[in-house]
Amino acid sequence: MSPRGSCLKQDASGKPIFETIASLAAANRGRDCVHVRHLQKTGILIMKTVRVIETGNQYIEFWNAVLVPKFNSWRHILAGGLHLHSAKVFPALPLHSGDNVLDVGCGWGDTAIELARRVGPAGSVIGLDCCGAFLDAGRADATQAGLTNLTFREADVQTYPFEPVSDFCFSRFGTQFFENPVAGLRNMRSALRPGGLMTMIVWRARADNPWLTLSKEVLLRYLPAVKEDAATCGPGPFSMTEPETVTRQLQIAGYTDVRFERIDAEVLVGRDLDEAVAFQLAIGPAGEVYREAGMLAERHHGKLVAALKDELKEFVRPEGVMMGSSSWMVTAQNPG
Ligand SMILES: C[S@@+](CC[C@H](N)C(=O)[O-])C[C@H]1O[C@@H](n2cnc3c(N)ncnc32)[C@H](O)[C@@H]1O
Repeated sequence: MSPRGSCLKQDASGKPIFETIASLAAANRGRDCVHVRHLQKTGILIMKTVRVIETGNQYIEFWNAVLVPKFNSWRHILAGGLHLHSAKVFPALPLHSGDNVLDVGCGWGDTAIELARRVGPAGSVIGLDCCGAFLDAGRADATQAGLTNLTFREADVQTYPFEPVSDFCFSRFGTQFFENPVAGLRNMRSALRPGGLMTMIVWRARADNPWLTLSKEVLLRYLPAVKEDAATCGPGPFSMTEPETVTRQLQIAGYTDVRFERIDAEVLVGRDLDEAVAFQLAIGPAGEVYREAGMLAERHHGKLVAALKDELKEFVRPEGVMMGSSSWMVTAQNPG
């Protein structure tokens, strides 16, 4: 299927070339299509199949069009780091055999799979995410694991018409992207039975998350800051760092008994320095600066790679490039 819409460049056969996935998405709403980007500097041709959906929610469209392909390419790095943050708290989660559980913003579904094992065949888990392509991976893994008590649903957590039947609602790094955090948290609460519990994991302060912040600082020496009106995935990874603000948001959303517990973990950002630099240029706040700088970033690519390598080399360990990360486990209750 060839992309429609207008774009500035064409390849030798006259097919349009989209410089960014976002521009392709804007021109191809509602279709599966192929994104082709020619990096003139390296001569590497990148082709990606992109599922372009139209939801009316710009953040959800951005997740599907821009972040799904990137996250899928970097799953082998991302999944391990995110897992460390839930692994530290999973054993103590208030789960019982037979519980009904909801995992929101479940991504590839690994936490939903773990939750399904914990509640057993008498219980049930729904993994909900706004990106169908992530859920496809979750369904395949759940089938392979032989789980019959887990279903995945593609939906916006903020507006999904939940029934108040869940004993427990979980989210690992999913709630920070809500367009309206209070409305999203309130809608999550509507899925809980009276007395039901909610646990969400969100990133702590930037200073304690060099794996997400250091490379951005390096790139900003050479590239402009991301413009206020740039397309984005929502408020972002550091939107729930402040316990006072989050407590207030949860209270306004109707929760009681709000508690915070700190989780620290060294995460792998690349099996070697080259991979760590490529990861940083693709994902997270540094990836955003690089992507938004467009051709300017590509022109300075060599310089940026050298500067990042110089900064990241101190984190090289025998197992790969390891950097500090820190999150909050936030728990709260639905009083009913
Ligand atoms: C950082 S990822 C975390 C994924 C997964 N929980 C994990 O830890 O691996 C954030 C997830 O939230 C999902 N998400 C963001 N906004 C959402 C919304 N309004 N409704 C449903 N899912 C959402 C994204 O699609 C993405 O899968």
